[in-house]
Amino acid sequence: MKIVSALRSVRSKSEATLIGVFSGEEKNSGKAFEDNKIKNFISELAKTHRFSGKEGAFFFSPVPGDAKRGVLIAGLGDKKKFNAEKLRRLGSALFAKLNGLSFESARVELDTLVGSGVSYADGAAALVEGIRLKEYRFDFHKSKDKKEEKPETLKEIVLAVRDKKALDSVSKEIAVAQTIVESANVARRLGDEPANVMTPRRLAEEARKMAREVGLKCQILDEKQIRALKMGALLGVAQGSKEPPRFIILEHHGASGKPIVLVGKGITFDSGGISLKPPQGMDLMRYDMCGGAAVIGILRAAAKLKLKQHLIGLVPTCENLPSETPTRPGDIHTTYLGKTVEVLNTDAEGRLILSDALAYAHKYKPRAIIDMATLTGACVATFGDQCMGMMGNDPALLKNIQKAGYETGERCWELPMWQEYGDMIKSDFADLKNIGGKYAGTITAGKFLEVFVGDYPWCHLDIAGVAWRESPAYYTKAGATGVGVRLMVRYLRNLTKRS
Ligand code: BES
Ligand code: ZN
Ligand code: ZN
Repeated sequence: MKIVSALRSVRSKSEATLIGVFSGEEKNSGKAFEDNKIKNFISELAKTHRFSGKEGAFFFSPVPGDAKRGVLIAGLGDKKKFNAEKLRRLGSALFAKLNGLSFESARVELDTLVGSGVSYADGAAALVEGIRLKEYRFDFHKSKDKKEEKPETLKEIVLAVRDKKALDSVSKEIAVAQTIVESANVARRLGDEPANVMTPRRLAEEARKMAREVGLKCQILDEKQIRALKMGALLGVAQGSKEPPRFIILEHHGASGKPIVLVGKGITFDSGGISLKPPQGMDLMRYDMCGGAAVIGILRAAAKLKLKQHLIGLVPTCENLPSETPTRPGDIHTTYLGKTVEVLNTDAEGRLILSDALAYAHKYKPRAIIDMATLTGACVATFGDQCMGMMGNDPALLKNIQKAGYETGERCWELPMWQEYGDMIKSDFADLKNIGGKYAGTITAGKFLEVFVGDYPWCHLDIAGVAWRESPAYYTKAGATGVGVRLMVRYLRNLTKRS
């Protein structure tokens, strides 16, 4: 399906036309149509309150005397509360509706959807994101006759704008948004694949293949190389599985100077290890590599957009399984940094593999380190699926990431990192232990990571509550959300704009 832009004055053969209407502005909505017949028809309907500007309202009517064509009126709610997230949701609703009504082409009157706090470019991008995120499917493992949804009919959506100047920025932003959302969907697919398919070796292969396609540098460290580097924490988690670990390194050299290093947790399956998880919901731990998938998606987008940033992506990846050779509770491992860790709970494995990657990041003398991980159940208990937990040591970095979070709908909320929380991970027998106490689990995990960051500016994002969904909502289906990709690309683009 194509999404393109056009000048509003150019007549299109589109079968369906969509306009947006704010609460209380129903009466004027006929004006949005050029065709006099439709204009009058909509004005008549408005007089009799047949459609509403209430947020989420969606009205459809065939054009009188032309059953092949239709008009759609989307309620946008309170004009003062309008934002890009609402347009994302509208994009997904529009896509579903048009397919449901078997339309092949549609035209969106963008002028009716933007202007109130949302620019043309941002509005177009949000629509594209909503549409493309909704369009995503993961049904490769179903036989043809078992695929539930009928094939989609929609072939083209035209975003129509009134003025020529806006058209340029709209068409540019459509292209950029498509690349970004496509990269988020790449991350979703990596996340959605079951753990028997998306093994550490396969994840590394996918990263390598993607890197080749988009022109990124890529290095994959195998078990022998990981051992030679003495990444004892990553090896300690990996030792319970026959599947060998990998350490994925991606590089986008879009500018000279110190890089920003992105680190993603790549546990392809987290059974908990010897500290085995309960069976209920354990299948969901195939998503425990979504942080890693996001890093791969971000690097892909950066390369395709030719972002003027120097970026490194690091994804330590392995499985966390019990076996006859796993890490036992009480075992002590020596990390890449040289610090020793007492593993008191083998289910707190994410921080272990991340500790080696964070310490490895020092070799780049980074401008900043940003990590993403489905790290703690406690984060889900705190925030549910509304935002990610954010921690770090650099207020400006955190502030900018939080801003990008609001802009993309991938929200972040900061948690405190007081020294007292760090006291909770002191060990009697090693430099530190891999669990805190019963409480503040998200923060003690963050404090653990902090030890391996050193003095570099750093932001940790605990994406446990938002990396996947169990039921659909707006533009996300059940399954991986690709969270982190749109957020980070936005953050990086904002940086480039400023400098
Ligand atoms: N991958 C899990 C965290 C998780 C749980 C993410 C639920 C999403 C949903 C992580 O490896 C883990 O098991 N953490 C433990 C830490 C505990 C043992 C200190 C947890 O949160 O229970
Ligand atoms: Zn775990
Ligand atoms: Zn885990």
